[in-house]
Amino acid sequence: MAAITLKDIVKQYGDGFLAVKGVSLDIADGEFVILVGPSGCGKSTLLRMIVGLEDITAGELTIGGTRVNDKAPRDRKLAMVFQNYALYPHLTVFENIAFPLRLQKGKFTEAQITEKVEFAAKTLELQDHLQRKPANLSGGQRQRVAMGRAIVREAEAFLFDEPLSNLDAKLRGQMRTEIARMQRRLGTTTVYVTHDQTEAMTLGDRVAVLRKGELQQVASPRGLYEQPVNLFVAGFIGSPPMNFLPGEVNGATMKLPFADVPISADLASKLGDKKLVIVGIRPEHFEDVNLLEESKVASGVTFDAPVDVSEWLGSELYAYIPFDTNPDVATTLEELDRDLDGEGLRTQLIVTLGSETKVRDGDDANLWFDPARMMVFDPETGENLTWDAEAAKSIDQENEADRKASLERAQAREKSRA
Ligand SMILES: Nc1ncnc2c1ncn2[C@@H]1O[C@H](COP(=O)(O)OP(=O)(O)OP(=O)(O)O)[C@@H](O)[C@H]1O
Ligand SMILES: [Mg+2]
Repeated sequence: MAAITLKDIVKQYGDGFLAVKGVSLDIADGEFVILVGPSGCGKSTLLRMIVGLEDITAGELTIGGTRVNDKAPRDRKLAMVFQNYALYPHLTVFENIAFPLRLQKGKFTEAQITEKVEFAAKTLELQDHLQRKPANLSGGQRQRVAMGRAIVREAEAFLFDEPLSNLDAKLRGQMRTEIARMQRRLGTTTVYVTHDQTEAMTLGDRVAVLRKGELQQVASPRGLYEQPVNLFVAGFIGSPPMNFLPGEVNGATMKLPFADVPISADLASKLGDKKLVIVGIRPEHFEDVNLLEESKVASGVTFDAPVDVSEWLGSELYAYIPFDTNPDVATTLEELDRDLDGEGLRTQLIVTLGSETKVRDGDDANLWFDPARMMVFDPETGENLTWDAEAAKSIDQENEADRKASLERAQAREKSRA
């Protein structure tokens, strides 16, 4: 197992296209790192450079402290699981998993091969299927066979490129927990590419967000969610996405489309002399005033807003509230929306309310939010003006401590099983 270090990695394709523009990333031994970003941002390119399927144009890649830029894929000792895993249909599950070992002719005895395949099969709960053929397996079982191949190679690291995107929603969920469990158990360094929100937020110790070949932020899932460095990360992480509203600074108040919000001294210092900003509020930070304890109402801002459409989902309700945006920030938001592969529906507020709410289509809802939770962005640069370096650091430290503890627990459990 090994640490992977990327230093100023650049990829320029043969046709001149600059797909990765100087990415630096330290991946610790045993760490699970997620690469996310919209389609075409360079995720697969980066992964393929790590594994050695694509040349590195500039920069340095080290695995376990050794520079590997010029090493052939097989010498990097990494195992990659693709979106379209290719199993050999005529071979049994056992032989499919054993395949990479048999490729290294004469290196392993039959007994060693059996031992390794059985270990992988146990880890992936495939023991009962070893003599079956891939065609007779479910999608999730086939996926596990592909992962079994990665395990038997005893690779320094696992690299996954959207391994679950061909599976249906239920299976994805199952395989997601399966992969998390396997990674904890084996403690193998893992880099995992996805554009699925849930996978990004639940699987990784840290998440690296890419945009057009550039790294935007690397942080724990909670770090990205609570302290995004810019509009792009703020808009990319979270579902439904963060609401972005024009905010006009008017003396000691911030004028939002639905409400005037008092500007605290702390916020005022961050705003400087800006007159127009983009305010971000997460859907779940709104409440229905009628469901709120009276003592809490006074601590925030209340306003009435016309609900266009509501969606009741059982556990919660989404209410959609259209508004007119300020033309000066509209361009920034439209551009952001394109970058995020959005649907161009940014001029509506989405609020998530408790499912007990009585708010329905066509109502004027009486809503509440806590202005302390607003994020404020510079409309020109997209920078999060309310980003708190201290808070961001302590979230990531907590996350790191949690990660270590859970890795130790998983490995202790593994020892007691053995
Ligand atoms: N062989 C190639 N030659 C030239 N450009 C390429 C080549 N392969 C990929 N690209 C370009 O590099 C950029 C990054 O591609 P990449 O496949 O890494 O994106 P991605 O983030 O994995 O996207 P997706 O989520 O759609 O898989 C894209 O704009 C793509 O068009
Ligand atoms: Mg890709």
